[in-house]
Amino acid sequence: MKLLLYLFSFAFVSFYKSFAADTIEPYQTLLDNDQTLISIAEEFELGFFSPSNSTNRYIGIWSKKVSQPTVVWVANRDNPLSDSYGVFTISQTGNVLIFSNKSGITYWSSNSSSNGPPILRLLDTGNLVVKDGDGDDNGNENYNWQSFEHPGDTLIAGMKQGWNLKTGQHWYLTSWKSPQDPSTGSYRYQIDPRGLPQLVQYKDSEVVYRTGPWDGVRFGGDPPLKNENPIFKPTFVFNTTHVYYTFENEDHASFSRFWVNPSGSLQHLRWNENGKEWTTVFTLQKDECDTFGRCGPNGVCDINKNPVCQCPIGFVPKAPQDWIRLDTSGGCVPKIKLSCGMDVGFKKFHRMKLPYGTEFLVNRMVTKQDECEAACLRNCSCTAYAMARISGCVLWFKDLLDIRAYNEFGQDLYIRMAASEVESNNKGKRTALIISLSVLSVFLILVMVSGCIIRKRTYSNKSQVERIVNPDEAGDHYQTDEDIELPSFSLATISIATSNFSSTNILGQGGFGIVYKGTLPNGQEIAVKRLSEDSRQGLKEFKNEVILISKLQHRNLVRLLGCCILREDRMLIYEYLPKKSLDLYIFDQTKGTALDWRRRFNIIVGIARGLLYLHRDSRLRIIHRDLKTSNVLLDNEMNPKISDFGLARAFGGDVTEINTKRVMGTYGYMSPEYAIDGLFSMKSDVFSFGVMVLEIVSGKKNRGFSHPEHDLNLLGHAWKLWNEDRAMDLMDSLMEKIPASSEGLRCIQIGLLCVQKRPEDRPLMSSVLMMLDSENASLPQPKEPGFYTERVLPESPFGSTWSMSNEVTVTTLHGR
Ligand SMILES: *[C@@H]1O[C@H](CO)[C@@H](O)[C@H](O)[C@H]1NC(C)=O
Ligand SMILES: *[C@@H]1O[C@H](CO)[C@@H](O)[C@H](O)[C@H]1NC(C)=O
Ligand SMILES: *[C@@H]1O[C@H](CO)[C@@H](O)[C@H](O)[C@H]1NC(C)=O
Ligand SMILES: *[C@@H]1O[C@H](CO)[C@@H](O)[C@H](O)[C@H]1NC(C)=O
Ligand SMILES: *[C@@H]1O[C@H](CO)[C@@H](O)[C@H](O)[C@H]1NC(C)=O
Repeated sequence: MKLLLYLFSFAFVSFYKSFAADTIEPYQTLLDNDQTLISIAEEFELGFFSPSNSTNRYIGIWSKKVSQPTVVWVANRDNPLSDSYGVFTISQTGNVLIFSNKSGITYWSSNSSSNGPPILRLLDTGNLVVKDGDGDDNGNENYNWQSFEHPGDTLIAGMKQGWNLKTGQHWYLTSWKSPQDPSTGSYRYQIDPRGLPQLVQYKDSEVVYRTGPWDGVRFGGDPPLKNENPIFKPTFVFNTTHVYYTFENEDHASFSRFWVNPSGSLQHLRWNENGKEWTTVFTLQKDECDTFGRCGPNGVCDINKNPVCQCPIGFVPKAPQDWIRLDTSGGCVPKIKLSCGMDVGFKKFHRMKLPYGTEFLVNRMVTKQDECEAACLRNCSCTAYAMARISGCVLWFKDLLDIRAYNEFGQDLYIRMAASEVESNNKGKRTALIISLSVLSVFLILVMVSGCIIRKRTYSNKSQVERIVNPDEAGDHYQTDEDIELPSFSLATISIATSNFSSTNILGQGGFGIVYKGTLPNGQEIAVKRLSEDSRQGLKEFKNEVILISKLQHRNLVRLLGCCILREDRMLIYEYLPKKSLDLYIFDQTKGTALDWRRRFNIIVGIARGLLYLHRDSRLRIIHRDLKTSNVLLDNEMNPKISDFGLARAFGGDVTEINTKRVMGTYGYMSPEYAIDGLFSMKSDVFSFGVMVLEIVSGKKNRGFSHPEHDLNLLGHAWKLWNEDRAMDLMDSLMEKIPASSEGLRCIQIGLLCVQKRPEDRPLMSSVLMMLDSENASLPQPKEPGFYTERVLPESPFGSTWSMSNEVTVTTLHGR
């Protein structure tokens, strides 16, 4: 009988020796007579411990990086030894045991088994695993048993919380009874796997809190548990076989964990090495409205109201006397009791935490709101419906529990009520409509010009009438006839393509939203830009915009394949370019060498061509407004493709006006007149182009440029060298072959011409291309650039955001 024990660290040589013996019968003893420690993983230790003020002995795993004793996993939490005769051992059949060497009683056993000689190993992740010794050992995760499958009160990086629906395995967290007592306490956190996956906190068997359903980015409307944060990187898997939440530490230098403390709160804690203490990144329950069912059945909790409990429109308190005394536990009932066959409608409630369902149905295949509504109408006991992000159509039956209003990130909920209730809530609108109708008829009688105009107007009013009968906005339907031209993808397709917007698929984040990588069922790779929610534009305008943009085709523009619109969620689907963006090359010491002068020159010409097309040749005349190296993508042949064009329009910038109150752009690329006065024109794009030319030539960033001899930015530096007749010193030293001096010099000169302070001095893109093409033409002498020294900026119109150092698109409202 062979029994091998794999040990990583040789610091415990004696331990290693004594247990690497070939034959031990019947038991392999690991920790004998309360020997305290095995330290075999780099970051974690396993051993016997006693909590403070307790003499009970437990086997636990704790982090070595953390100087405060913090146990992340306990084996025999419910069955401690009371003396020091504990033995921790693995049997030859692969069962891990804790028993007393005095009494012989087994205190804990893993109940695992192995086919061959077992291996017990504490991995660097903190996972204690048993596997077959014969099995290959190359990262294969077929463990016979692992502590990660048996969580206690702590979730560390790599552990899962949720379900394997196929095998029925369930991973959940349970609190300790007290800081002195690791035994299973009353609080439990688990994922509710039923279609609307969310984290639910139980006290004994009662729900006391829930996060609200996962929407692809976050749980419910709870800002803390979301995808993007600097501390840890969560992944949520939700498919037919698995529903779970897991995370990785983003900052590998520090250790962080989820922890259900003995009083039941779920916290995320991060070890602060300087202060030698755990700091709380967040605690899940924040306010009164997070108490489950705070306002009773059908009641809505709104933390911004006083009192916080409200009945939704169309509902009244069930026990008004109690509500007056602020006892809202009775909840609300419909003002008009609903019965089958009655005329009913749905009232839309914006940005809600979707109700908790004791009884509900989810249909991910239904992607159209009207189908979902029809499904709810068909069943008399359906009380509400929603088109939930990720989950699709959800129908609720019976009372709606634990609804709260969120300021942002909530989802829209449609509650069923008597048609008269829906209509009376629209009385205001209707009055307005009647007035506008009568104004219209006066207009009709008076003018009577063209039947065409009249027909058009009555049509648009008809749709308004419909809106009153049916409260949900016509524009909210997922697809309507007018979409025929619009290349649109269903949310289900995009969701599958991006693995439910998994954080591992994130390519980057721009000012307009997060970009995910995805693969369509036909194998085509795509980039999905999920627009952030502050688009100012109406749905119709947005669709028109997308249709127009999707018609733009040029080899130097990234191809827009289509879009996906589901309620407030708007996504743009682009072709995927595996080489990603230009900035990753030119500002990188190693990748930069891939760009010799010829390539750089081609990139400059390519960007100029793409930009000229946007400015002049396309039907639209698009001003990009956020040109920068990270918005220039490269294809496999290193041809540049401009991305994000048209988004500025799509985000509510009106291109027919040259003055905008909404400045968006990136510091370092914005022209002075645009950044300071909000004036934009093709010439502000030319300025950004000039900055890029100088960056591509020099391999340096304009913003953040530093030089030992002066305080100028890259534009200033180039301008200085130009005046000192040493412009060629600007060339990136990474380029092996320095360009023929005339061509390099011409590019620098063009760059400087484009960044001149006064817009009227800057050339148009058509001239820029001519200048790039002509070898011998003499170019004008550049004048002083705009913004060449960052230190002499006028007082910032943006307040503190001006000092933002990272390169993100900023959007600000101009105080004018
Ligand atoms: C039990 O304890 C005795 C005496 O302390 C020791 O000799 C023996 O090796 C221990 N047995 C095991 C299985 O650890
Ligand atoms: C341990 O017990 C002492 C004395 O009973 C008490 O003062 C101390 O607060 C206790 N420590 C903890 C962590 O409970
Ligand atoms: C192993 O099996 C025993 C007996 O069925 C059970 O009491 C114990 O909880 C099991 N251990 C684990 C770690 O599941
Ligand atoms: C669900 O996701 C898990 C984890 O990513 C994966 O292992 C499993 O194969 C997936 N199941 C389906 C049906 O896609
Ligand atoms: C309505 O839905 C409930 C819950 O799914 C179901 O039990 C009931 O049979 C349905 N009634 C009708 C008429 O379809």
